[in-house]
Amino acid sequence: MPNRTVIIGTGSALPCRLVTNKDLEAVVETSDEWIRTRTGIEQRYLIGEGETNSFLAARAAKKAIEMARIRPDDLDLIIVGTFTPDMPMPSVACLVQKELGAKKAGAFDLSATCSGFIYGLSIADKFIRDNRKMKILVVGSEVLSRRTNWSDRTTCVLFGDGAGAAVVTGVREDRGILSTHLHADGSLGGLLTIKGLGTAQPVTAEMLGLGWQYIQMQGKEVFKYAVKALEAVAWEALSANNWTTDQIDLLLAHQANIRILDFLRERLGLSEDKVFININKYGNTSAASIPIALDEANRSGLLKPGMRLLMVAFGGGFTWGALAMRW
Ligand code: UT7
Repeated sequence: MPNRTVIIGTGSALPCRLVTNKDLEAVVETSDEWIRTRTGIEQRYLIGEGETNSFLAARAAKKAIEMARIRPDDLDLIIVGTFTPDMPMPSVACLVQKELGAKKAGAFDLSATCSGFIYGLSIADKFIRDNRKMKILVVGSEVLSRRTNWSDRTTCVLFGDGAGAAVVTGVREDRGILSTHLHADGSLGGLLTIKGLGTAQPVTAEMLGLGWQYIQMQGKEVFKYAVKALEAVAWEALSANNWTTDQIDLLLAHQANIRILDFLRERLGLSEDKVFININKYGNTSAASIPIALDEANRSGLLKPGMRLLMVAFGGGFTWGALAMRW
């Protein structure tokens, strides 16, 4: 029996400030009705005083470590999927390592936007297939509210802040991660981008005036690519494992839009109870959306041993991916 990667602990953390659609009606020209019907979002949590990406990531990590019944210095590696770090250097992963006191662990951030958690688990899986004794913390954590243009109604109503985490290790049993599938198409990166604040150009008043420090998205175009890519990668994962769609027990998809989730459910012929949905509560939290959903599903007792889980994500880059596992 080869080494298999299993999730032995999950955790999540949300910031303190609850912002409803009604609250946003006072910020931009929008309505609760538009946001609900076009996206499925009812509210989101945003950071407040003293909260940062690494603060949320460490809180989620502590819960996952506690559930895994390990000590922070048992960790060999910390991977944080994020594109909204506290600062360019040190990485969120290093800040988390310090906060946890995980002295033995290597640590790095991974930039794959909304696919960050699946990319992160996929890397962790490769290490653990080599050495099943390893313990790896994989986190998805974002503070999108600091990269949101609060006068752009086409984006500001969509995003939320938050973090989710999982501790993984290896077993020689017939369960755990079965396959991972990673994709990207950089030629379409301009459809969902933060143009400024990198090193390509200096930060100038002109650049800030153009709003290049903020997320800019051509939503309709992104939507079209997202549904196609998510469906294709879901079929790819099913076929790699010889699964039929009715063998999927739970689909944990990136929570970007309820209409994308409905589309996927219909295309795969799944019943409503097989598609996990929490976008109504948190909005789109990018790399954090799947680990938050996983933690909620886990802590609510929804996940049962042997269940077949399919995770799929799509985001800026473009990046997308899938992961099939037996719980
Ligand atoms: O997480 C990474 C991947 N991201 C995604 O997958 C997001 C994909 N895209 C989407 O989810 C959707 O395209 C959005 C939710 C972003 C937009 O929904 P849409 O149905 O594609 O709306 P639209 O952009 O075509 O806009 C329709 C109308 C426009 O008005 P007109 O031109 O028809 O008069 C917009 O100006 O809705 C208007 N609109 C709004 N109205 C009220 C756009 N945003 C708002 C708003 N409130 N917040």
